[in-house]
Amino acid sequence: MGKIKLAPSILSCDFSKLAEEIKKVEQYSDYIEVDVMDGHFVPNISIGIPIVQAVRKSTKLVVDTQLMISEPWKYIEQFVKAGSDIIIVHQESMKDEKQFKQVLKQIRDNGVKAGAAINPPTPLKKLIPVLGEIDLALIMSVNPGFGGQGFLPEALPKISELRKLMEKEGYNFDLEVDGGIKLDNVEPVLKAGADVIVSGSGIFKTPNPTETAKKFKEVFKRYE
Ligand code: DX5
Repeated sequence: MGKIKLAPSILSCDFSKLAEEIKKVEQYSDYIEVDVMDGHFVPNISIGIPIVQAVRKSTKLVVDTQLMISEPWKYIEQFVKAGSDIIIVHQESMKDEKQFKQVLKQIRDNGVKAGAAINPPTPLKKLIPVLGEIDLALIMSVNPGFGGQGFLPEALPKISELRKLMEKEGYNFDLEVDGGIKLDNVEPVLKAGADVIVSGSGIFKTPNPTETAKKFKEVFKRYE
């Protein structure tokens, strides 16, 4: 396994001090995960374009924007202009495979990296048709909508099956996992083959986010 990347999710940070919160973890992070939610695709409304702009102004890290919204194709250009480096769209927000491929191409045609996500109930086979056209696959380990949920272990076999497929087919996109990941449960996720770890409350809701991010990186070293 190559370098394992840490992607703190700002969903659980103190938004009154967004730039400071990002600074706290920046040294030990690779991506900053921005969880966009519309209250329709998921049962919560979170953050949108102005926050991506603010994150962009606050850090040089890769801005990894996850669109947990309906009709994401309508907003790709705006999220690119706002400063996203990666835009992740959900298989469940697409009409069919053809549209999924079109939207992933739309993201790449806008000059940024394309990510494809599936939720816990969605079988891995729904991602197979697009594996050749992505820069990142996201296996959700919670049902999206809220930070601070419990990790769903049924994500683990999907992660290892995808990692095996990647090795067999020679794919080298990021295998990102997001949802309920803490220092004390990250190792099985790494063993299964994840190489981008998203953690929100597992970092920002700890007494010292800097120390927590550092500790994540120390654990990662054992799997690289
Ligand atoms: C979906 C969001 C969350 C967030 C991480 O609800 O995508 O998974 O990024 O939140 P934690 O790490 O607190 O589960």
